Amino acid sequence: MGEPAMSEPEPLLTMAGMTKRFGGVQALRDGTLEVVPGEVHALLGENGAGKSTLVKILSGAHRPDGGELRWAGEPITIAALSDAARLGIRVIYQQLNVIGHLTVAQNLTLGRERTRFGLVDLAETRQRAAAALERLGVRLDLDRHAGDLRIAERQLIEIARSLTGEVRLLVMDEPTASLGEREVERLFAVIRGLREQGIAIIYISHKLNEVFAIADRVTVLRDGQTVGTVRTGQTSEDELIGMMVGRSLGHDLTRESHAGDQVVLEVAGLSTGTGLRDVTFQLHTGEVLGVYGLLGSGRTELARALFGADAIAAGTVKVRGAEVAFRSPAEAMRHGLGFVPEERAQGAFSLLSVRENLSVASPELISRHGWLRPALERPLARRMVETLRVRTASIEEPLARLSGGNQQKVIVGRWLARETPILILDDPTSGIDVGAKDELYRLIGAMTTTGTSVILSSSELPELLALADRMLVLHQGRVAGILAGNELTQHNVLRLAVQGTNG
Ligand SMILES: Nc1ncnc2c1ncn2[C@@H]1O[C@H](COP(=O)(O)OP(=O)(O)OP(=O)(O)O)[C@@H](O)[C@H]1O
Ligand SMILES: [Mg+2]
Repeated sequence: MGEPAMSEPEPLLTMAGMTKRFGGVQALRDGTLEVVPGEVHALLGENGAGKSTLVKILSGAHRPDGGELRWAGEPITIAALSDAARLGIRVIYQQLNVIGHLTVAQNLTLGRERTRFGLVDLAETRQRAAAALERLGVRLDLDRHAGDLRIAERQLIEIARSLTGEVRLLVMDEPTASLGEREVERLFAVIRGLREQGIAIIYISHKLNEVFAIADRVTVLRDGQTVGTVRTGQTSEDELIGMMVGRSLGHDLTRESHAGDQVVLEVAGLSTGTGLRDVTFQLHTGEVLGVYGLLGSGRTELARALFGADAIAAGTVKVRGAEVAFRSPAEAMRHGLGFVPEERAQGAFSLLSVRENLSVASPELISRHGWLRPALERPLARRMVETLRVRTASIEEPLARLSGGNQQKVIVGRWLARETPILILDDPTSGIDVGAKDELYRLIGAMTTTGTSVILSSSELPELLALADRMLVLHQGRVAGILAGNELTQHNVLRLAVQGTNG
């Protein structure tokens, strides 16, 4: 007797045995994926597993070397971006494509402008842009330059833009990497709406909680090969991690505190043109100070102001008791500050090698009398690549050839390679896979034992709660509270972040 017909709908998309090689790197060796209409299908795998490569084949950005592609049962080839578009495939990439000097409205209608008497019809452009945002339930000023928006907002533009025309398959490559919790909820509401319309969604994320919240099924890739597909209702985080990394991870994040009494950084009444108001706090030796806040709370602005990337309008900053006023990041670095920016692209030198990207922050480690010393630089680069499990053909590979998450690891590794007394990390784990996150947490812990002080800003509250000795909560550019000890609970942090007061 056969199984009762569980009438699984006919697949919209079938990718079978896909292979793709870049030079010496076999990015895909057996990529297999089946997606049915009206499902959210998550794609999981470690950094460099081949997720982006698989979806770039779908978008027509890469031609596969081998494998079979079917669309609604019919064999097809996708030779160009236009082929994918015609089929109703939309891909939102990991690297954003929003053009800074254009307005929100222009970005939303880019390439699809209607003209009247040879001129772009501005009223019509605005109307369509507004409709696109409406579909997403998002409000943005249509006339602002996209370059002035924060990443999360630019990401919303990218998503809204993809939702035009007849969409049958929407691929999102780490769409929430830079979104706050509320934006994620809003995005999920949009995704559920699209699923109800019968649209299939491929959702790539390193955040397992999101996968369980939104996906119907999950396909796991490892080393370019599909390990398997499971229903989210019939699996567990542990099982998925096991499939991804082929080993189990210690989930115990708790670390010992190494915070001392000595103040290394003292900030008083700090205000900036970027929206910070009267921010006051102290950072101690060996301390991890968590910084949490919702989108627009000033988390990134605080990190940038401390590092000399943005100007300070009022207030004082003291490093080891001496007042400073950094006019540039270079000056901040000379005073022993390090900074891992929120946005991958900042600080990434795509054309330079992994080795060069790792050592730009530590010239004193690798040069003598102003000459770079490759003999010192190479072991340092190799050590960092190993510790953070950066997947690269060699340390001489240009950064651009690495997967998104591996690029991020290199940028984080740059600062960990150097013994920076004060390290500012802005969302360092966004886009990094679970295994590498673990290594990163361990490294942060190890650095505090040698007296390094860390300001760790993150949108992931569980990671902050596990790592931080104290937590600075920001609300609309102000310090809503600083929590420590028994007061440092998820509930208290969220209440401060949302309401701005403690009750
Ligand atoms: N254009 C390219 N040239 C050379 N190598 C590439 C190129 N694109 C991808 N690769 C390599 O192929 C492998 C798979 O990369 P891919 O971007 O698909 O990984 P991913 O699963 O999306 O990882 P992440 O989670 O870090 O985004 C990596 O080793 C990467 O370095
Ligand atoms: Mg990727």
